[in-house]
Amino acid sequence: MAKRPLLVGNWKMHGDGGDLAVIVAIGEAARRHPAVDVALCVPATLIDRARGVSGGLAIGGQDCHAEPNGAHTGDISASMLREAGASLVLLGHSERRHDHHEDDALIVAKLRAARAAGLEVVLCVGETAEDHAAGRSAQVVREQLTRSLAGMDGQGIAIAYEPVWAIGGDRTPDPAEVAAMAGLIRDTVSGIRALYGGSVTPDNGAALFEEGGVDGFLVGRQSLDAEAFTAILELM
Ligand code: G3P
Repeated sequence: MAKRPLLVGNWKMHGDGGDLAVIVAIGEAARRHPAVDVALCVPATLIDRARGVSGGLAIGGQDCHAEPNGAHTGDISASMLREAGASLVLLGHSERRHDHHEDDALIVAKLRAARAAGLEVVLCVGETAEDHAAGRSAQVVREQLTRSLAGMDGQGIAIAYEPVWAIGGDRTPDPAEVAAMAGLIRDTVSGIRALYGGSVTPDNGAALFEEGGVDGFLVGRQSLDAEAFTAILELM
């Protein structure tokens, strides 16, 4: 059965009360395109205000702690995200794997915590430029998937293939490369939606979606611009 397309924006460490109009506009665009699931993952400080203006748009967090509560200064639990109004959370983003030294074992624990709190998950996987150059992309992604899921099924999980070398720049893999990775992901974890992320724009989105054979996108920079994000939504 064909899966509903999914478009997720990742604002990363951007956004404040002055950006609520962007969320309103994206919410309006999402209502005009009911065949696509649309979500926006914003900084935790913005979740409740984003929910208040989103008009039904799913709002998510960008990480959660592996434990439900405790002496973890500065951290946020999955249930706290849920209580603020989040319905999903990004986990395993390469920027957290790198900046916070998150390994697959920690991501398994975070995944379990997110599930226990009733959050859907977008699990990020992707190889570095070095692994890509060495032809290790498929091996790295398969290992990240199997280790991050640790035998869990794909219920409520979307997998975002985000080659690290394609994030934040202007390079993307060939759509055929994306299609091969989407196939590997679906072969490794059944029942999930396979997304692509990394420099998706209104200009390259159609080829990546159609020839890349993905169920949607995880979009960074372009999700901060309502017009650009809507243009990507409209090509899905
Ligand atoms: O999580 C999405 C992000 O890593 C991609 O960023 O700005 O290249 O679309 P960007």
